[in-house]
Amino acid sequence: MGMPKLFLIPSLFFLALASASPCKVTRRGLSGDLIIRGTVLTSEAALANATILVHTPSGKIAYVGDGCDSGLRAVDASVIECGHSIISPGFINTHEHIEFSTVNPLSDIGERVDHRHDWRVGARGHTLRAAPVNGSEINATAWGELRHVFSGTTSIIGGQMVPGLARNLDFISGLEDGLTAPAAYWDVFPLDDALGILRNGDCNYGSTPIDRETAGRFNRYIAHVGEGVDAEAANEFACLSNMTYDTLPATSGGGRSTDIVAQNTALIHALGLSTADFDKVAARGAKIVWSPRSNVFLYGKTLNVSYLLEAGITVALGTDWLPSGSATLNREAVCGASVMRESYGVALAPKTLWEMMTINAAKVAGFEDKLGSLEVGKMADVVIFNGEGEKELADYDESDAFAQAVFGNEKDIELVMRGGRILLASDGIKDLAAETCETLSFDGTNKIVCVSNELGSTFEEFEAFLEGVYPARLPTIPPQEPTCEPTR
Ligand SMILES: *[C@@H]1O[C@H](CO)[C@@H](O)[C@H](O)[C@H]1NC(C)=O
Ligand SMILES: *[C@@H]1O[C@H](CO)[C@@H](O)[C@H](O)[C@H]1NC(C)=O
Ligand SMILES: *[C@@H]1O[C@H](CO)[C@@H](O)[C@H](O)[C@H]1NC(C)=O
Ligand SMILES: *[C@@H]1O[C@H](CO)[C@@H](O)[C@H](O)[C@H]1NC(C)=O
Ligand SMILES: *[C@@H]1O[C@H](CO)[C@@H](O)[C@H](O)[C@H]1NC(C)=O
Ligand SMILES: [Zn+2]
Repeated sequence: MGMPKLFLIPSLFFLALASASPCKVTRRGLSGDLIIRGTVLTSEAALANATILVHTPSGKIAYVGDGCDSGLRAVDASVIECGHSIISPGFINTHEHIEFSTVNPLSDIGERVDHRHDWRVGARGHTLRAAPVNGSEINATAWGELRHVFSGTTSIIGGQMVPGLARNLDFISGLEDGLTAPAAYWDVFPLDDALGILRNGDCNYGSTPIDRETAGRFNRYIAHVGEGVDAEAANEFACLSNMTYDTLPATSGGGRSTDIVAQNTALIHALGLSTADFDKVAARGAKIVWSPRSNVFLYGKTLNVSYLLEAGITVALGTDWLPSGSATLNREAVCGASVMRESYGVALAPKTLWEMMTINAAKVAGFEDKLGSLEVGKMADVVIFNGEGEKELADYDESDAFAQAVFGNEKDIELVMRGGRILLASDGIKDLAAETCETLSFDGTNKIVCVSNELGSTFEEFEAFLEGVYPARLPTIPPQEPTCEPTR
């Protein structure tokens, strides 16, 4: 207002230069295949000046290497040159309650509790923290999948699904792009304790708890166990890991302990487990889903994940849900790194966190043959970070390519691709985006978003319809983010 127009022009020009995108389309081919060059993250190392080939129409990776293979020249592929940008497998979020994506994060009333039933049902004199689904559950689910896709997550285990957008690894109809492996099974109340049942010394929970035989039938059985810091939380693990802990049936059904801890099981939270319990988890090859932000916000602390890693346990990250967790997997990684330093004096390697968001997560979900790494024959699920934005964790080595991917801001994403299909691209890649894509601003940085085919409307229309709910575009630090500051 009132400012002469001339003053604005030079600064806008400067901004346009400063946000120039590092990825560029340097060749348009006719085969539909795509060559992408940049720094490729693999389980061995970050490979500078590397090349991947995405095959069409299979949507799979057909080549990973230095790009000198003469066969590459024979395919009439388009080429995206990404310089020093970081090419990572798309992230896999192993724990979400995705239908809560239109609910604002809970306010911090300063109360930390000992068990999930304390806040869920207001047990033992604690404040009930209700967070009901806000509006249409299916629209909230689509909204949540969009939020995760925009931040580089291409697969989720979220308990609810919509077709398209993120792969839903817990629904056969949500696997997408011809994936046919069995879906994971996801359980919030393995002990049938939804009413808020707390036990110590026996297993008299609900009448229909999980049993060893049923859990054993799933390719993956992923369940909330021991979400709390007290004896009642530890008791849940005893009831699920020891056949002789309680052999007395309850008259109303249930009441006996079982033992489900096996290679096909993953325990979500597991905050109440002792080191001896984790030794058993390790010995059985069971896995752990780690949600540090939600743990810290609700219970004031999280796991010593170093102990789990040293014991050889496969640990994967999950965001839990919007009311108490991270809005994106990157923000979960930021929290995981900071709480491990603060609570345990441990500097987790960025590569370790990256594994928790990619290959370990694929193992938890039972999709390690198809997803979780950039390897020939796997699905071309890809996220590319340009490494430009300032990282919050200043003490990490800026040149660490893994750090640039795990701590990257959404704003700095160049490409998100699921099964070879572009879902989000930076301006420099827009020539390869379909005509149905739309241009959206992420904090002043334009991105091309290609979701309308799968969403059934443009993103902008959907965003206007849901006006007032928690945003799905989160260019930098998400608003109202629950604290990751441990209190015990
Ligand atoms: C990558 O390519 C650039 C430009 O061609 C070159 O300067 C750099 O040394 C290469 N890096 C590696 C690790 O090969
Ligand atoms: C539910 O959505 C409405 C917009 O439709 C929003 O104003 C409100 O804050 C949301 N409620 C919560 C608890 O997030
Ligand atoms: C299983 O439970 C029984 C009965 O409480 C106990 O004696 C035994 O030590 C437990 N086993 C393990 C491995 O914790
Ligand atoms: C955390 O685990 C590491 C690895 O086992 C161990 O060295 C350290 O003492 C543990 N820290 C605490 C506070 O338990
Ligand atoms: C879901 O969102 C669409 C807009 O994309 C809207 O037309 C529809 O009514 C919504 N469904 C419900 C149940 O609110
Ligand atoms: Zn949960």
